[in-house]
Amino acid sequence: MTRKRVGVLISGRGSNLQALINACKSRDYPAEVVLVISNVPQAQGLLRAEAALIPTLTIDHKAFPTREAFDAVLDTALKEAGVEILCNAGFLRLHTPGFVESWRDRHLNVHPSLLPAFRGLHAHERVIAAGCKISGCTIHFVRPEMDEGPIVAQAAVPVLANDTSETLALRVLDAEHRLYPHALAVVASGAVSVQGERVVDKNDQAQVPFFSPPLP
Ligand code: GRF
Repeated sequence: MTRKRVGVLISGRGSNLQALINACKSRDYPAEVVLVISNVPQAQGLLRAEAALIPTLTIDHKAFPTREAFDAVLDTALKEAGVEILCNAGFLRLHTPGFVESWRDRHLNVHPSLLPAFRGLHAHERVIAAGCKISGCTIHFVRPEMDEGPIVAQAAVPVLANDTSETLALRVLDAEHRLYPHALAVVASGAVSVQGERVVDKNDQAQVPFFSPPLP
């Protein structure tokens, strides 16, 4: 089995990166992380990559005059490393349309809500404020608009009566750590394709159990 070469973009903690690194340890996993790039020099995720002996790069966006200039350097670094699939994992920069186009349908993002609901920042606060009873996370292909694009996989978690944004974030994060490796595997193995801005999954391989509390 040839493994797809994966690049991961981070800006911080890197717990989703860790989940992907852990999944890649499995011999039959169809992908391997070959490069981790952070736009933030002190990102904790860089240490996780180094501990796993994965090459890292810091490309500090502050050193570039425009988004285009930053994305051009990012693109060159990824292509030089032979990256085939790109995973954003807590990467807090919007990409330029040109960058997005060059990675179209090979570029994943994780968002901590059930998209298309609650795009953008502070999703958990807004989920709680809206009185939602279910939230979750989404892995989707990247498009130029923030948190938009064909959905590969989703996992749902309950929103409990006494949840704060912190407690809900932890529950959703745990689901992210299980969902992202799963979604990357179905993409890397070629089990899904994008048709008309929907992910087609002939054998329902991207489906995961719906995590719901039992009814009384
Ligand atoms: C995650 O909640 C992810 O959904 C969001 O940013 C957070 C990143 O966490 N996009 P980590 O850096 O992977 O720990």
